[in-house]
Amino acid sequence: MKYPKLFSKAKIGTLKLKNRLVMPPMVRNYADTSGKATDRYVEHINRIAYGGVGLLILEASYISPEGKGFKNELGVHSDTCIPGLKKLVKVAHDHDAAIAIQLYHAGRQTHSSITGKKPVSASAIPCPTMQEKPTALNQKEIKRLVKAYGKAAGRAQKAGFDAVEIHGAHGYLIQQFLSPYSNERTDSYGGSFENRMRFLLEVMESVQENVGATYPVIVRLSGEEMVEGGLEIKDMTKVAELVEAAGADALHISSGNYGSYGEGHLIPPMAIKDGVNIPLAKAIKKKVKIPVIAVAKIRTPELAEKTIKDGSADLIAVGRSLLADPDWPKKAKAGKAKDINPCIACNQGCISRLFAQEDVWCTVNPKCGREIEFGVQEQSPKKLLVVGGGPAGLTAAITAAERGHTVTLYEESAELGGQLIAAAVPPHRKDWELLRKSLIRQVKALPVEIIMEEKFSIEQAKAGGYDAAIVASGSKASVPSISGSDKSNVIIARDIFEGKAEAKGKVLVVGGGCMGAQTAEYLAEKKHEVTLVELTDQIALEAPIDDRNLLLKRLEKIGVTMHLKTKVLKIQDDGALVHIHEQGKRHLKADTVVLCLGSKPHDGFTYKLKFVIPNVIVIGDAKEARRVTDAVIEGGLAALEV
Ligand SMILES: Cc1cc2nc3c(=O)[nH]c(=O)nc-3n(C[C@H](O)[C@H](O)[C@H](O)COP(=O)(O)O)c2cc1C
Ligand code: SF4
Repeated sequence: MKYPKLFSKAKIGTLKLKNRLVMPPMVRNYADTSGKATDRYVEHINRIAYGGVGLLILEASYISPEGKGFKNELGVHSDTCIPGLKKLVKVAHDHDAAIAIQLYHAGRQTHSSITGKKPVSASAIPCPTMQEKPTALNQKEIKRLVKAYGKAAGRAQKAGFDAVEIHGAHGYLIQQFLSPYSNERTDSYGGSFENRMRFLLEVMESVQENVGATYPVIVRLSGEEMVEGGLEIKDMTKVAELVEAAGADALHISSGNYGSYGEGHLIPPMAIKDGVNIPLAKAIKKKVKIPVIAVAKIRTPELAEKTIKDGSADLIAVGRSLLADPDWPKKAKAGKAKDINPCIACNQGCISRLFAQEDVWCTVNPKCGREIEFGVQEQSPKKLLVVGGGPAGLTAAITAAERGHTVTLYEESAELGGQLIAAAVPPHRKDWELLRKSLIRQVKALPVEIIMEEKFSIEQAKAGGYDAAIVASGSKASVPSISGSDKSNVIIARDIFEGKAEAKGKVLVVGGGCMGAQTAEYLAEKKHEVTLVELTDQIALEAPIDDRNLLLKRLEKIGVTMHLKTKVLKIQDDGALVHIHEQGKRHLKADTVVLCLGSKPHDGFTYKLKFVIPNVIVIGDAKEARRVTDAVIEGGLAALEV
């Protein structure tokens, strides 16, 4: 056994666990609008439990309607939720996994557009992210909510859950009371540390009253809040000690709140190192005797094992890694860690979609949340042509081959991976290479015929006798008609990352989308003096929130000059003539002008293919240039459609 600590048995209070791997709570937006579990949700949890995780903690589930944070979040606020919850419990137990549910109230970290009610909080201070002024709870309402947590715990117990987790982290209602950053009350729930602790301790008491003293209770805390005037680890070790004394059976140590979400420690993006919050778990573990769960970008069994072995934590939560590959535990246990399809910390499919009130996807796993559809066996295997070996084409080929289709994939270049190759080049983006390698490993393990460096012809398509074709030929850079864009000092950003072009001297990057900003950073790191101009008033707007925040800070630190609301009028031999909002026309000097103005589909042959192949599906950037997550999901879905 390669990871003996990770796969040793553990206990949380009276609850016995088969291993030390925990699925942390993750809202999926798969419930119905009244908070009830759907068949989709049940099948998704079934699939994760099948993968071998020891304990699943279901998502932040609202204990009262005004505490709901997402449109299709799970609820535990009403007895009507119990039948659905029972189904979730059953599928976990069917696979010998333990299951808990997280009890939560969003407080001010929600919006009336979601709940239909004004948010409530400890004090009437708006959350900097949600920006809606909450109503400060009066003592009567506090008592009602304390009771509601208890009742919700009772429902969880009735539904068969093995434990509950009280959500005291991430800046939600309990943390709003705990923190002087959000609590300015002058009554018995605010002011002193003891007063700010009161709400959490009353919630714990109410939960225990409803479920009994021996029922396992986990408390999730942010080890630090990462905002000015917020809770620090020295405060949180004291909180942890009091929570232990109040009867908690385990602590789950995360970090941050919505105000510090952009720092990237809550759901660490690519730019943040693995295991970033382990020191917080370790600091708290030193102060308590109950088990401590560490979490956040612990992606490999090696790091998980080491974290337990060196005494930093007792259990390890792997969240996004289970969305990416629910078989992570089984593969690790079998010593096949290299077969794990890794979470690449892109935050595109999961949390960015959730924050947009959409259902959670995973960029590397089209089956995540679509377990029912993918579970239906293919009845009539076909002969399939896939055009293009980028993320969309590779995913289509892999999924189709897994489903029994006979697949031939054409890639006109010498390398598989398409735009993933360029995507991994800028600073802090190398995890895109993990996806490329994982897709190549998967496709090569299947009976897919791969024809490289060959631009397939319509004649070949005709001769192949294919039943269906998936066109995933990607995109090419858009070059809008700016006067002078054909000059020799003008290059395309993508060409730099593909090694086809080189910037010289002082650089002007035109287009401040995500890729333009990354290009500016890449070139500035290479010691070029860089100016970035953007037509709108925002840089890298389409990037995930934390990624964007970190990127903007780095651009500033590295000295990239940025001009917003700026239109390029004319490219010249020594730079460009631009119009900057409220400044007027200016000449920006540059030796090289790099264009990064989006992409357009690279597909000139679908219409011809349709004459020779009965079913032609166009996916990914070949349909419309978008994010990798869209390309991968469409690849998977196209394989279901053929
Ligand atoms: C889509 C998504 C939803 C999440 N929802 C919750 C939640 O309901 N409650 C919670 O405490 N944390 C939530 N988190 C944070 C995770 O529990 C976990 O702490 C975080 O993802 C870091 O762990 P990981 O790197 O292993 O994914 C969520 C994270 C993601 C990606
Ligand atoms: S979408 Fe990206 S960050 Fe989220 S689980 Fe999948 S790979 Fe990981």
